[in-house]
Amino acid sequence: MEKSAEERGMWGSKLGFILAAAGSAIGLGNIWRFPYVTGENGGAAFVLIYIILVFGIGFPVMIAELSIGRHTRKNPIGAFEKLFPGSPWKFLGVLGVVTGICILSFYGVIAGWVFGYIFKTISGAFNNIETAQQAEIMHNEFTGNPVNSIGLFFIFIFLTSYVIYKGVKGGIEKWAKILMPALLILLILLIIRSVTLPGSSEGLAYYLVPDFSKINFETILKALGQAFFSLSLGMGTMLTYGSYISKKDNIVSSAFYVCLFDTMIAIVAGLIFFPALFALSMSPDQGPALIFHVLPSILNKFPGGQLFGAGLFILISIAALTSTVSLLEVPVAYVVDEKGWTRKKAVLVMGSLSFIIGIPSALSGNAVSFFTMLPVIGTDFLSLMSSVFGDFSLSIGSFFIALFVGWKWGVKNAVNEIEQENIEFKIKSAWRVFIKFICPIAILIIFINLVVNLF
Ligand code: TRP
Repeated sequence: MEKSAEERGMWGSKLGFILAAAGSAIGLGNIWRFPYVTGENGGAAFVLIYIILVFGIGFPVMIAELSIGRHTRKNPIGAFEKLFPGSPWKFLGVLGVVTGICILSFYGVIAGWVFGYIFKTISGAFNNIETAQQAEIMHNEFTGNPVNSIGLFFIFIFLTSYVIYKGVKGGIEKWAKILMPALLILLILLIIRSVTLPGSSEGLAYYLVPDFSKINFETILKALGQAFFSLSLGMGTMLTYGSYISKKDNIVSSAFYVCLFDTMIAIVAGLIFFPALFALSMSPDQGPALIFHVLPSILNKFPGGQLFGAGLFILISIAALTSTVSLLEVPVAYVVDEKGWTRKKAVLVMGSLSFIIGIPSALSGNAVSFFTMLPVIGTDFLSLMSSVFGDFSLSIGSFFIALFVGWKWGVKNAVNEIEQENIEFKIKSAWRVFIKFICPIAILIIFINLVVNLF
């Protein structure tokens, strides 16, 4: 039996949806991943390319995902199966479910560390941290302790599972409404601290004045991967969230706001980290530990840093939680809709799976040297997971979503879905060109060049 829209659950309002979708999009991707990827890929020029890709590629793909979701009212696998029963398109949904579990597995580790830093800040552990080197040593000790790392990771997966278990509206929407404004305020206060540190102007220049000699195809692929990651695209999260949107709401303007808010928070996060990095004489390519090296070292230069820091880590944890929830929602919605599992069983199985897959990532911050520095590959296990599932898998997923809407399901059907209840899709002819040609071709070119460059 098909469940009705009401039985599956729906967002309370258009604003409720925008906040929940922004809650999914805004998270560690903006505050943890964007700064370190920008630092590894040359600064301002990367930021510029990133913004172009968010609006040129991410925004059209988001419209595509949301319209498939609302049209079918399904999870990703069920959606393709409903539109074209028995076709291989359902593997796109399978890829999404697998990607969701795997992203959650490393994302939850970082979220666990952030969560742990709440208590470290409150206990005054950062009061004597003056230099970034001290912060680095402390962070290595912290993540090098496997009980810490795995324990905190477990707590975070547990919290995520709990929210998911409580269901769509009660869980996700409520959190998102209070969080976003509060987070933005603390971040802006931190920018003020950061740009007034002596020696910070060089960092601002690195972040804001583009040097295009630093750009190559790998950088562009990284920017594209980061755009999909940050916007929660390419694995069916937005498709699933779209399945809870009312037919009265305007998908296009909602998608635009989500892209805008998400990009704003990422840019703001960069404005905190780069000035501080240069003021602390650190190199910008610290990798995934970047925020853990910088934040403790500027907090004690902040009035009431201990309290402020705790507040900050609490808010980042909640931002991460509204994202992990959306990652777990995809696999859970799949087994609930398609396999008839109870929500409880689905949450238990999918949450545990993600936890088990995440253990090597939890041990890759100096706890086990093999995972901290993988032989041959030369990076830590967590960074590897972040590249494979964060960059590649999402880019492949988005490529096929664009192809699916542009060529298989058809732009006309998508536009019909968007233009319900007298809503006019003003930019539909431009969107048609983007989703049929520009998005898939751009993603493909970036991929081919990457492969060619490998040899
Ligand atoms: N976008 C989130 C962030 O920036 C992470 C995330 C949630 C995500 N759901 C996703 C990433 C789906 C890719 C796909 O923190």
